[in-house]
Amino acid sequence: MTFARILGTGSYLPQKRVTNDDLAKHIDTSDEWIFSRTGIKARHIAADDEKCSDLAVQAAKRALTDAQVDTEEIDLIIVATATPDMQFPATATIVQHKLGISGCPAFDVQAVCAGFMFALTTAHAYIKSGLAKKALVIGADVFSRIIDWQDRGTCVLFGDGAGAVVLGASDEAGIIHSKLHADGAFLNLLNVPAQMANGEIMGTPFLKMDGQGVFKFAVKQLAAVADEVLNEAGYQAEQIDWIVPHQANRRIIEATAKHLGVSMEKVIVTVDEHANTSAASIPLALDAGIKEKRIQRGQNLLLEGIGGGFAWGAVLLTY
Ligand code: ACO
Repeated sequence: MTFARILGTGSYLPQKRVTNDDLAKHIDTSDEWIFSRTGIKARHIAADDEKCSDLAVQAAKRALTDAQVDTEEIDLIIVATATPDMQFPATATIVQHKLGISGCPAFDVQAVCAGFMFALTTAHAYIKSGLAKKALVIGADVFSRIIDWQDRGTCVLFGDGAGAVVLGASDEAGIIHSKLHADGAFLNLLNVPAQMANGEIMGTPFLKMDGQGVFKFAVKQLAAVADEVLNEAGYQAEQIDWIVPHQANRRIIEATAKHLGVSMEKVIVTVDEHANTSAASIPLALDAGIKEKRIQRGQNLLLEGIGGGFAWGAVLLTY
């Protein structure tokens, strides 16, 4: 049987690190307020001349090196992002060109913070069906560009970054099962309502969020989709070695682990240092867990994420 297997991972964080105390110098907030509600201590912010594709390329290069795969072998590139370089073309094609690759399909998926779940599942389907052999799957976002830095209710939550995996066809175990969902009825919980029209930006180009509404919806749906992916795959929660969750809020992460009866010792948490990097957060956490030698080959991982749309999903895999 052919599996889509993770051959290598890589990630990139911009150099500039901004702590909660740094933010408290400019807005009415405190380290105590932010940390107690979210688990966030710091976030990284892209330089003015750093674009989404620049972050993605750095993460991709590291993943290719880790996988020992040459760029010529890549026959699919998917970038999950909600903060593309341009309205069009897809950031994936810009990444493709910057990596010196040409010809293979390259496209973006837009599922906000759940984007990496959608991108990984799409690449899995390509590989399982024989349409691709080696895929570069990247989550990259620069939410610092769509945040109102005067809105203390949202600006403290986000950071910039990128994470990537090289996914390849293999006889060895890889992705076991995936489950994705979306429901546009929850549009108003979280959005950036702007659009370009007639040479102007129509509507506000900053992120709007109903924090408590997002919190409740995320806790409920992440528990449900985790159950669903395990049940459909015929796995028990005890068989999970690591949960690699979307890093939005430590309390949301703890709620999912508690629901599954999985100890926090078996959960990769990077939200303290990364904050919410949207589509980048799961591959950033995955790469951190692997590079810290906590996640080992042969272990079972449950990846799960949720974001605007609303869109959410979980992927069960053997690393
Ligand atoms: N610093 C200090 N005070 C603040 C801040 C801040 N940064 N932000 C808000 N407050 C104040 C509010 O003004 C309010 O004051 P008031 O009582 O005088 O009106 C008070 O703190 C409480 O505000 P709430 O919004 O009720 O605070 P809550 O306890 O709900 O926490 C939070 C807010 C942290 C946003 C929480 O709702 C949350 O984590 N929600 C999930 C949001 C999330 O994860 N979004 C990420 C995007 S979606 C995703 O990735 C899943």
